[in-house]
Amino acid sequence: MSTVVLVGAQWGDEGKGKITDFLAEKADYVVRYQGGSNAGHTVVVGDHKFQLHLIPSGILYPDKVSVVGNGVALDPMILLQEIDGLRDKGIDVSKLKISSRAHIVMPYHKELDSLQENGSRKIGTTKRGIGPLYADKISRTGFRVIDLLDGDVFPEKLKAIVEEKNRILDKIYGRPAFVFEDLLEQFRYYAERLRPMVADTSLLINQAIDEGKKVLFEGAQGTLLDIDHGTYPYVTSSHPVSGGACVGAGVGPTKINRVIGVVKAYTTRVGEGPFPTELFDDIGELIRERGDEYGTTTGRPRRCGWLDAVILRYAARINGLTDMAITKLDVLDGMEKIKICVAYKYRGQTLSEFPESLEVLQECEPIYIELKGWQQDIAGIRRFEDLPFAAQEYVNKMVELSGVNHSLLAVGPGRAQTMVTRDVFAPL
Ligand code: IMP
Repeated sequence: MSTVVLVGAQWGDEGKGKITDFLAEKADYVVRYQGGSNAGHTVVVGDHKFQLHLIPSGILYPDKVSVVGNGVALDPMILLQEIDGLRDKGIDVSKLKISSRAHIVMPYHKELDSLQENGSRKIGTTKRGIGPLYADKISRTGFRVIDLLDGDVFPEKLKAIVEEKNRILDKIYGRPAFVFEDLLEQFRYYAERLRPMVADTSLLINQAIDEGKKVLFEGAQGTLLDIDHGTYPYVTSSHPVSGGACVGAGVGPTKINRVIGVVKAYTTRVGEGPFPTELFDDIGELIRERGDEYGTTTGRPRRCGWLDAVILRYAARINGLTDMAITKLDVLDGMEKIKICVAYKYRGQTLSEFPESLEVLQECEPIYIELKGWQQDIAGIRRFEDLPFAAQEYVNKMVELSGVNHSLLAVGPGRAQTMVTRDVFAPL
């Protein structure tokens, strides 16, 4: 059995798209299991830069099956735009499968997300309708792909829900109503375009696993954005953690072999919420510019800071990490000293575990260790042993502090700039 879940170990933007693309070469199936078009995965292939929001990064290999699982918030408009954009660039999308159980993002979800963001609640969302969509899913007032394809049930259900949403938009926000007939026409068009790709994807994936195929589950966002385990309420509304792969793709936990945490060599965060190692100085600025730390989906500048090993240990525990994929090590080139946070100071106490309370986290001050930097450009290095000693020391420290071994090390955005230090599809 070769099934690997790839998760973000921090606040998202760890470089999961690049690592998925790299591992996808060896996989047979690549599966998205949560999140929606709030994700932005950048993959560089030769001279082309691809930015994918909904389609798994494995799509760039023609022989792989790409799956949008049931846990994904599926925005048909974005998905179809992405499909058309890939086709225009000569990418074969015929092996894309969409779960019949995935929930559909409706225009009123996006409108409500924006209105809530511009109102009293400020999470710093991507305004892609994610929170309102998952709220409807849990309230049992959502639409699944299978409902959309049912020409009899869909209009009736849509009419009732649009009326309810229009009342909310009018009475609470004073916004104009959505016109039922327009929505119906728009979504009938989407239904016909999606229909050939729709499948019972849990069945497909489980059959593939039983046949010994290699399956890669591609998480979006990151551990600290998980609705249960993240820095609530400054989180997304899904389960980016490894357990989310079971629910969001319809596979049992006994079917998962390995869990790789993608860890950026430093920390970033977009949107609001506490961030203990955030840097407000020239180093933070340098990391942002060198690391091109601007959101793929929204273009917002990301907040940048030193690596936080408290977070790393937490991510190792919550996800059951078996491996680490370390990204963007090259961004730290040329620094005289590099810091790693190993614990927090809170009102005179030392905390070694990530706190549950945001108020506590807000007051936490990082306790740092300082490591020597390296003065070499490492972007062209292809073997761990060839890295400058200080860079090796830094990576070894990450392993020591997290208790998780590394399997991949990335020193740049290109496919070739990834070193394999352990085969992740081999049995542990
Ligand atoms: P939402 O997922 O759009 O509801 O946004 C909730 C929080 O998650 C905000 O802080 C966003 O900035 C953050 N977020 C959502 N998607 C991503 C992502 O792909 N990378 C990093 N942060 C994200």
